[in-house]
Amino acid sequence: MEKKVRFVETALRDGQQSLIATRMRTEQMTPILKTLDECGYHSLEVWGGATFDACLRYLNEDPWERLRIIRRNVKNTKLQMLLRGQNILGYKNYADDVVDLFVKRAIENGIDIIRIFDALNDVRNLQEAAEATKKYGGECQLAMSYTKSPVHTLSYFVDLAKEMVKMGADSICIKDMAGILMPQEAYDLVSALKQEIDLPIDLHTHATSGISEMMYLKAVEAGVDYIDTAISPFSGGTSQPPTECVHLALTNAGYDTGLKTEKLGKVADYFKPVRDEFRKSGLLDPVIKDVEPKTLLYKVPGGMLSNLLSQLKQQHLEEKFQATLEEVPKVREDLGYPPLVTPLSQMVGIQAVMNVITGEPYKVVPTEIKEYVEGYYGQPPYPINKAVAKKIIRNVEPITCRPADLIAPQLASLKAEIGDLAKDEDDLLIYAMFPQLGKDFLSRKNVDFFDIPFDPIEMSLT
Ligand code: CO
Repeated sequence: MEKKVRFVETALRDGQQSLIATRMRTEQMTPILKTLDECGYHSLEVWGGATFDACLRYLNEDPWERLRIIRRNVKNTKLQMLLRGQNILGYKNYADDVVDLFVKRAIENGIDIIRIFDALNDVRNLQEAAEATKKYGGECQLAMSYTKSPVHTLSYFVDLAKEMVKMGADSICIKDMAGILMPQEAYDLVSALKQEIDLPIDLHTHATSGISEMMYLKAVEAGVDYIDTAISPFSGGTSQPPTECVHLALTNAGYDTGLKTEKLGKVADYFKPVRDEFRKSGLLDPVIKDVEPKTLLYKVPGGMLSNLLSQLKQQHLEEKFQATLEEVPKVREDLGYPPLVTPLSQMVGIQAVMNVITGEPYKVVPTEIKEYVEGYYGQPPYPINKAVAKKIIRNVEPITCRPADLIAPQLASLKAEIGDLAKDEDDLLIYAMFPQLGKDFLSRKNVDFFDIPFDPIEMSLT
């Protein structure tokens, strides 16, 4: 086997999302984009739901303009984004016409690779986004949400990957959002996938549990094609493992990484003061860099552990933390072992808290859980416990079709609603993704003092 592996740099999306709540501004990215382009990465992950949201909510930036600026400055390296299947960037299903237009505009504005995932691994929820990606000339990377349960066996993931091949995937991603994939498991999974399918395999993880570098090494030994890392100042903890360290270790082991050590050093030197600024402002909480081995024991993402604790604290019920942690796997089992990824991680967490607080399982059930049991999120990996389903939705018959089949086209009515505030398709999509937030943003965008991000290329022309 050729000893070769390529890197996906996540600092501009997942790295900063995991560590500083996605508050990096475009002007903090632009000075280093050219150097990032020269490092030799397979791709840069630069865009996703949280970056889009934070641009509108906190940064007063047009997320599309950020993408165009990055594209103008990154001429040779592929740009990639994360897309939540039929949910696009949000938490609810959209009609197919909205998915199609969003994918079209993402590609036209500069995205090369779209990583598409579904929380339940219901491939019907990936179909429309995958077709649109192919149609508009993008690279379609279909991602398997990795989780552990009696149904999530090696053959489950191999079968899922095969189905994704049939759907036209150009590459497959193992999305270990909780950082619970063990080194030997990674070796076995990547080996099995490489044996059964003929597409490049990407591996994505988070460093929360403290095993991510070991895990990457084993996966690389098994022949994984791409690994996701973050440049050191934005690495570690809930982010990805550090790019430079993984690159140096693998180079030492005889692997060709394609990366240039000196350029990576420049990128790291640039980002250190940026990180320090976020440390000083408090946005980078030191706790987030802590190692949390309990992730491995409870198979719960680190972020979910801290969310549960803070929810309980707010109600002065922190003594219920252990009981809630033990309730999570029960709720998961009752609900057919959904992977704990947004939005399912939040939904399962809240249900576990409610079960513990009320002392009676499913006495109180959030609307989202009701809709989940009714089939509106897609098909769970395993049938939902019948008694629990009956308690939650009584005699309602769950739907079994692809949930988006029940949604009529939405673009025309969205256009009518937002009217002149949307000057083009990108504006319309801002409104479609985040109706209230988007409308507020578009009203501001049309006034003179709107803050336009600084683009060194545009400036150098004058
Ligand atoms: Co991630």
